[in-house]
Amino acid sequence: MTKELYDIAEQPPLGAVPPKMHAWLIRPERFGEPKDAFQLEVVDVPEIKDDEVLVYVMAAGINYNNVWAALGTPVDVIGARNKAGEPERFHIGGSDASGIVYKVGAKVTNLKVGDEVVIHCGTYDADCPLVKRGVDEMYSGSYRIWGYETNWGSFAQFTRVQAHQCLPKPKHLTWEASAAYMLVGATAYRMLMGWGEHALRPGDVTLIWGGAGGLGSMAIQIAKAVGATPVAVVSGEEKIPYCMQLGAEGCIDRRKFDHWGMLPHWKDEEAYGKWLKGARSFGKAIWDILGEKRSPRIVFEHPGETTIPTSLFVCETGGMVVICAGTTGYNATVDLRYMWMRQKRVQGSHFANDAQCAAFNELVLEGKVDPCLSEAYSFNDLPHAHQLMYENRHPAGNMAVLVGAPGFGQGAKEGAAERQAAE
Ligand SMILES: NC(=O)c1ccc[n+]([C@@H]2O[C@H](COP(=O)([O-])OP(=O)(O)OC[C@H]3O[C@@H](n4cnc5c(N)ncnc54)[C@H](OP(=O)(O)O)[C@@H]3O)[C@@H](O)[C@H]2O)c1
Repeated sequence: MTKELYDIAEQPPLGAVPPKMHAWLIRPERFGEPKDAFQLEVVDVPEIKDDEVLVYVMAAGINYNNVWAALGTPVDVIGARNKAGEPERFHIGGSDASGIVYKVGAKVTNLKVGDEVVIHCGTYDADCPLVKRGVDEMYSGSYRIWGYETNWGSFAQFTRVQAHQCLPKPKHLTWEASAAYMLVGATAYRMLMGWGEHALRPGDVTLIWGGAGGLGSMAIQIAKAVGATPVAVVSGEEKIPYCMQLGAEGCIDRRKFDHWGMLPHWKDEEAYGKWLKGARSFGKAIWDILGEKRSPRIVFEHPGETTIPTSLFVCETGGMVVICAGTTGYNATVDLRYMWMRQKRVQGSHFANDAQCAAFNELVLEGKVDPCLSEAYSFNDLPHAHQLMYENRHPAGNMAVLVGAPGFGQGAKEGAAERQAAE
């Protein structure tokens, strides 16, 4: 008989769905640092729609988006959903997961109970006229990131997802490694491969900011898999071997330069000259790695405000700077002279569509991309893992937490000790 509620890692019989589940909830009254914003509660297991499946979560990936959800800024995700008519005054985050299908909706044909899956975070209304016309679903007004813009993410024993979000779990990977890669990996894939004539080609040079980070570690491997030449940027000598073993041709330590920030005004000749000197010496550092005067055709951008001027300057004539975030700020300053005369493209990019997620998953299934799992924490340490990210103290690569999967994870002991010390 199915119990009312199962303990964490006490797996219900296959296909038996209990009425209640454990979940980490964010509520508006405790918006703030992740260590306080997340609290463990017991809630009803969600019902599914006809095109959805219910997945028993084995492991969940940690991403920056649920640091933002915890803080309640720049968007109050709960308030936004309430405005749109959803009643729940809480947020169950989690935009990466591996797990087992426990229930399928009436119209689902591609999955069955027992399938082992990884979940990508792109959701949309299949009845949207634009989607029906075959336009990239990412351009639909209905597009939402599961476990951030939508509720019922993977920080719970069960999650509700649209069937098309599920892809085969790589058999050679653990549950926690399988939960760690999709959000950053598919984002990097669209950035590097999704922009028509600016898709990365064999032999192209690409500059990867934050090479040891979540996005960067995936981007280096994708570039390598297509036969391109990735040059990584990092802060700290210790990150260089990490990027090199992933396939970087060489690494630049950004702490050796000091021209970062918004572009000085072009009329301020002294400040502009100083900036130009810094940007030129950064460009030379790329040439030194390559052993020839070649510039990156694709620049992989996410730091934003502090690095954009340099990214545009070093980008090859006819190349592209592709941007998915502005971690250091949103004011992108551009010297238009370099842009039009050298015909460079600035392209915004956000997560990935179904086809791109599947293509990226194929690279992982073939063993061409490793998830770069740094630490797997216990379920109890989920706020701690987000707090590390918030304080930029998280390890290189990607983190995950164990939910249904047995074990305590490599980082669990350390996390528990730090939590106890803090309490
Ligand atoms: N739009 C999307 O679909 C999407 C998807 C995934 C992530 N994102 C966003 O992308 C950003 C990065 O995500 P992530 O998962 O890769 O985070 P991450 O693992 O923290 O890596 C980010 C890297 O950026 C580098 N960095 C930090 N400050 C910098 C600065 N001032 N100048 C240059 N580099 C700097 C750091 O590397 P070094 O210190 O070693 O240089 C860090 O490792 C976040 O804002 C995230 O929300 C957006």
